[in-house]
Amino acid sequence: MSSVVVANIGELVTFEPGRPVRLGAAVVLVDGVVQWVGDDADAPPADARVDAAGGAVIPGFVDSHSHLVFAGDRAAEFEARMAGRPYTAGGIRSTVAATRAATDDELRARLAALVAQARAQGTTTLEIKSGYGLTIADEERALRLAREVTDETTFLGAHVVPAEYADDRAAYVDLVRGPMLAACAPHARWIDVFIDSGAFTVDEARLILQAGRDAGLGLRVHAGQLAADGGVALAVELGAASVDHCTHLTDADVEALAGSDTVATLLPLVEFSTRQPYPDARRLLDAGVAVAIATDCNPGSNFSSSMPLALALAVREMGVTPLEALAAATVGGARALRRSGVGEVRVGSSGGVVVLDAPSYTWMAYRVGVPLVREVVGGVR
Ligand code: NIG
Ligand code: FE
Repeated sequence: MSSVVVANIGELVTFEPGRPVRLGAAVVLVDGVVQWVGDDADAPPADARVDAAGGAVIPGFVDSHSHLVFAGDRAAEFEARMAGRPYTAGGIRSTVAATRAATDDELRARLAALVAQARAQGTTTLEIKSGYGLTIADEERALRLAREVTDETTFLGAHVVPAEYADDRAAYVDLVRGPMLAACAPHARWIDVFIDSGAFTVDEARLILQAGRDAGLGLRVHAGQLAADGGVALAVELGAASVDHCTHLTDADVEALAGSDTVATLLPLVEFSTRQPYPDARRLLDAGVAVAIATDCNPGSNFSSSMPLALALAVREMGVTPLEALAAATVGGARALRRSGVGEVRVGSSGGVVVLDAPSYTWMAYRVGVPLVREVVGGVR
């Protein structure tokens, strides 16, 4: 057992109900798990000491949406987009070709580098999807590799219809909900479907999600990225833990979300990187919808893994306060993953803490783009 005290904290964000922020605090972690939270003057001794030097400490970020198992890149697609070409789901197929051609070790090395970059920016809990294999063996491999680095793995065989099934979509849907699901479910906690005019319809998604639920997986949905597409209603109908993107929503979607346990996960780095209008987080929060913010880091629609930048965009472009944005990026993400004990700092929390080179959490939005994460302490999977 090894203990560490994070002492001399100016501002500690705990998200304890009724007292989300406390001043002059210290935190003790044992083997990465919080064992004590209190006033700095009362802090018990520990094997090691991290001096926050009057800076702010926040919970580790919960990035509840990423696609980190892939090969190649799509910088040329990004460049074309910045010259005026719109984003479409079709680009996914070029990453599928590169990923199928890669060895396990190549994918593992790329994944490890991406996870390390995310942690260096304060992310301690990370969901990772498959979806760039789209054969039984390649999807199973992606999930096996993802499981080496996180328990929050998501089967996304329904990312797009691969080229070899272009003339027989129904056969691909049957493959995904049949033998592909059977091979992937042992390595996955979740199943997800990309609902979009370039990907899957609501009816196809319903079949796939129901099969996933029957196989014991929790449900997540990509919906409303490029249009209000009926995916939000499906997510609520099926009791999905989260519906992600939510860029385009009808009033009925907002009402349905507000009366449900489904979290609306917003991905502002996608709007940034595809030059789309941002989702309206204020509208959702005011309606009583549970909101999360995540990165959606992937080679196509957004290749940033920066939770600090995602929350700064939410503050600057989506009508929320710095504390609301931080809550969405921590406790909101935990809720989207139906997890307790991450995204907050209380006795028993396993999500670790992030020491900032800043006197307040507000500075993450205020000093946007500046690397303020000084140290990440704890965080166990
Ligand atoms: O969440 N929307 C579907 N999947 C990703 C995009 C993947 C890609 O373009 O490669 C997303 O934005
Ligand atoms: Fe995604």
